[in-house]
Amino acid sequence: MDGPPLPTPLPAPIRLAAAGITKSFDGRTALADVGFSVTAGEVVAVLGPSGAGKTTLFRCLTGLVAPDAGQVRVDGDDITRLRGRARRRVGVVFQQFNLVGRLTALDNVLAGRLGHVPAWRGWLRRFERADRLLALECLDRVGLLAHAGQRADRLSGGQQQRVAIARALAQRPSLIVADEPVASLDPATGAGVLDLLRGIARAPQGNDGGVSVVCSLHQVDFARAFADRVVGLRDGRVLVDVPTARFDTDAYTRLYGGT
Ligand SMILES: Nc1ncnc2c1ncn2[C@@H]1O[C@H](COP(=O)(O)OP(=O)(O)O)[C@@H](O)[C@H]1O
Ligand SMILES: [Mg+2]
Repeated sequence: MDGPPLPTPLPAPIRLAAAGITKSFDGRTALADVGFSVTAGEVVAVLGPSGAGKTTLFRCLTGLVAPDAGQVRVDGDDITRLRGRARRRVGVVFQQFNLVGRLTALDNVLAGRLGHVPAWRGWLRRFERADRLLALECLDRVGLLAHAGQRADRLSGGQQQRVAIARALAQRPSLIVADEPVASLDPATGAGVLDLLRGIARAPQGNDGGVSVVCSLHQVDFARAFADRVVGLRDGRVLVDVPTARFDTDAYTRLYGGT
């Protein structure tokens, strides 16, 4: 049957491309030729035993650590060359939330905007109305609008991690990088946080797709439930890079066997 040609869906743009990442500490290799890429809206779980190099990899992805060799590109730009505002394209979420306890949830989220305001204004903590509205929107997105005025240290662990996610969102990131974001939370709360991250990745954002999430996890079940793809590290090398459905017993054994 003839008809108008079906529109070909555009491939999702690549948000993150890591290639050849190599890093040693005192002559000991922590990462060896690590490469993978993440498309817009994708949730990638990084798995691997302790010492595999996950945290070192995340530090390279956020530009906190310069690899000895290799390259990290965010939306095509080399992360080590991104400065100031552009650096904010990568939102970071930590295991221990890293909020300022005596500040309100709202002020913690506003801190995510610091890279967007001239330093002296940030320092004076005089944010523009637009920044405050955006920060409130981000708190609403994580379900904590009603807690905007509460001190961060009065919030539960799950709520604090949600504030940290709102802080990352306030940067308007292309990519959220989270190193063991649920390791300090009970399983049900952790599942809620991962569900939130996945929802953020799924939400359409303009023409070029959603925010991508790269997240290291210790619980393989969480990776199976929430990630689109699994990147498995062991001894600083990528041993597994598969869609979650193909992360089978064999892949599991390759990654964790004998540890
Ligand atoms: N700052 C550092 N100095 C020296 N060795 C380090 C440092 N950071 C990580 N390492 C080493 O690199 C390897 C990978 O560690 P890490 O990235 O923390 O792994 P993971 O997060 O998967 O547990 C380990 O052998 C660790 O001891
Ligand atoms: Mg680690």
